[in-house]
Amino acid sequence: ARLVVLVSGSGTNLQALLDACTDPAYGAEVVAVGADREGIEGLARAERAGIPTFVHKVKDYADRAEWDRALADSVAAHAPDLVVSAGFMKLVGPGFLARFPDRMLNTHPALLPSFPGMHGAADALAYGVKVTGATLFVVDGGVDTGPIVAQTVVPVEDDDTVETLHERIKVAERAMLVESVGRLAREGWRVEGRHVRIGRVH
Ligand code: GRF
Repeated sequence: ARLVVLVSGSGTNLQALLDACTDPAYGAEVVAVGADREGIEGLARAERAGIPTFVHKVKDYADRAEWDRALADSVAAHAPDLVVSAGFMKLVGPGFLARFPDRMLNTHPALLPSFPGMHGAADALAYGVKVTGATLFVVDGGVDTGPIVAQTVVPVEDDDTVETLHERIKVAERAMLVESVGRLAREGWRVEGRHVRIGRVH
């Protein structure tokens, strides 16, 4: 399966996928990496791996729809089976999603539907939950609302800061992402309402 990965930051999720893809048995390859900003470690990781990159900054476009179309055009040029938003800090629009129906995944550092939005780890810590985790889901039109592919649970420790908690979440998140993307790539999937069914459609 062909993966296009979108990043905005350190790209540790991307790196986990790049590492997994070095094994041909994994069943997937990262064919391109896109970003909404320059100068990030995520892009440097792609360049070190010899993978083509593209950048579209919202501010370079007349409006959000124009940006969305340019991003979708760049993604489509690499003919992906899966688009993985891995720490990509922008919401794509309906125009983008219509071109990759049920094919875009996102990771979120909390157990959805709890703590959606930009600060999943911080919000869980502030609430005082004793367990949190990460969620891999199929992107729909909402904010962290799509059908869930996988979740992983992480304990909250008494002395956690946002940083220590998020780091513990990210370790589990990367493992979940690698395992689930591999399964989707090798076995196929379909979305039935809220449910993601992994395995060939008969
Ligand atoms: C991940 O925890 C992701 O869920 C969150 O930001 C982090 C991205 O990390 N939205 P990285 O760029 O993959 O290292």
